[in-house]
Amino acid sequence: MSHTPVLRTRGLRKEYGTGEGLVRAVDGVDLDVAPGETVAVMGPSGCGKSTLLHLLGGLDRPSGGEVSLNGRRIDDIGEKALARMRRTAVGFVFQAFHLMEELTAVENVELPALLAGRSPRAARRRAEELLEQVGLTDRARFLPSALSGGQRQRVAIARALSNEPLVVLADEPTGNLDSAATLDVLRLFQSLHESGQTLVIVTHDARIAATADRLISMRDGAFVDETRLSGGTTGQLGALVGLAD
Ligand SMILES: Nc1ncnc2c1ncn2[C@@H]1O[C@H](COP(=O)(O)OP(=O)(O)O)[C@@H](O)[C@H]1O
Ligand SMILES: [Mg+2]
Repeated sequence: MSHTPVLRTRGLRKEYGTGEGLVRAVDGVDLDVAPGETVAVMGPSGCGKSTLLHLLGGLDRPSGGEVSLNGRRIDDIGEKALARMRRTAVGFVFQAFHLMEELTAVENVELPALLAGRSPRAARRRAEELLEQVGLTDRARFLPSALSGGQRQRVAIARALSNEPLVVLADEPTGNLDSAATLDVLRLFQSLHESGQTLVIVTHDARIAATADRLISMRDGAFVDETRLSGGTTGQLGALVGLAD
């Protein structure tokens, strides 16, 4: 008996036509992400990591191949169904945070729940719980411009969790952060992992990658290597960066 993967791709491709010709950004990716699994993807700039995440979360359409979320194909569904799926089943975290600058932290976090049709009261209650979870209760009424980079990213992570997504997709979430803020975000992903959240994290940070169950290396649009990290390894590396206290 096997679990339905939260994410599954087969022969996934994305090509861009440019002046210089065809760019094969994602070139035949087969991926299964099990429920509760954390997968880290590493690889040089331009190898297709962001394009892959966009395809996984339905932000972009593949040129070929299949993507399924919880056993349901999303590569061939209509725009409305895809938009609904993105809103309710996927949480995105970006390197540049992408918060709404004119909204406070709590308003940013509750927005996805409101867009998904939750009542204002339920959405606010959930947003306040999430801000507590990321340690920002005392910043709930601050605008993003009054927050540090690490605080902004924690707001963005809380926002990504607003609708209890099947999967959180994070694209270099610590790429704009100093090392103290990176550790905060690292601990947060670690606790999400422990709580059973399915995660796919694109990262250049070996410490983040070390918290994953599986580490995938990407080159030129394809997976070239895959390492299953044992609990022991995660524990050891986790201890090195202070996760074990
Ligand atoms: N909208 C686009 N139009 C043309 N080429 C693109 C577009 N988006 C990405 N690419 C190209 O696709 C390749 C993969 O890009 P990307 O997924 O952003 O890589 P990474 O996130 O690993 O740095 C690169 O060669 C990039 O230049
Ligand atoms: Mg990228």
